[in-house]
Amino acid sequence: MSLIKEEFIREFIDIANEGYRKGWHERNGGNFSYRLKSKDIECIKPYLTYDKPFNKIGVSVPNLKGEYFLVTGSGKYFRNIPRKPEENIAVIEIDSTGDNYRIVWGLSKGGRPTSELPTHLMNHSVKKDITQNKHRVIYHCHPANIIALTFVLSLEDAVFTRELWEMATECPVVFPEGIGVVDWMVPGGRDIAVATSRLMEKYNVVIWAHHGIFASGQDFDETFGLVETVEKSAEILVKVLSMSNEKRQTITTENLRDLAKDFNVALPDEFLKRQCF
Ligand code: 13P
Ligand code: ZN
Repeated sequence: MSLIKEEFIREFIDIANEGYRKGWHERNGGNFSYRLKSKDIECIKPYLTYDKPFNKIGVSVPNLKGEYFLVTGSGKYFRNIPRKPEENIAVIEIDSTGDNYRIVWGLSKGGRPTSELPTHLMNHSVKKDITQNKHRVIYHCHPANIIALTFVLSLEDAVFTRELWEMATECPVVFPEGIGVVDWMVPGGRDIAVATSRLMEKYNVVIWAHHGIFASGQDFDETFGLVETVEKSAEILVKVLSMSNEKRQTITTENLRDLAKDFNVALPDEFLKRQCF
């Protein structure tokens, strides 16, 4: 049995494929990582090799020392992942300091993990602690409607949260904690990783202006479903804004309070108070 047949790898490939089919991964756009459970590592141990050198991550993640991640490769196309997973994805191991990683499987024709590895690992680091080890998936993609909104809405957490909550009744229930927004920054480095992971302390979704979205979750379904929900809501808002510059009716603050009560979710006051347009 090959490593590719393992359930967590099949699910990872399946989500990569779904994301591609939705148009969220043009060319090499987007990247994806999963923090392996001990039982996952046990299952794939026979296929791992430890002869590659350690490389600098570019950020320090001491609470991830010794952890293993399944990650997409930098410059690799999501479209090719299902056909040739071993060439396009990799398993990496973090060293005993949390400063370095090495490839222990995959990227068989060469390459390195995603250029957004600093952001992925800093997000994993934050989420591992604050969710008591539950969150394991970080997903980054380029959905068109979310990106379009970053040109017309004010780049504030409260504005994006409130507008997207109002576009679909399920939204306040799916992301009651809200959504974070990072101003345009150069991708791929430490600074954007620090800015994103700070927002991940509070939110499970962070939007990068004029670029895309990062989401965090416990498993593949939850994380992908979160992005589907946010992007669907963004699509509705794009349609509403295209039709008119004012809403005749909407989900009101009172409606949101009623929803919170019945669905037993806490909606922060800072977003309930904020009426946008
Ligand atoms: P990588 O190919 O290095 O993962 O970069 C794609 C991307 O979306 C950068 O933000
Ligand atoms: Zn990107």
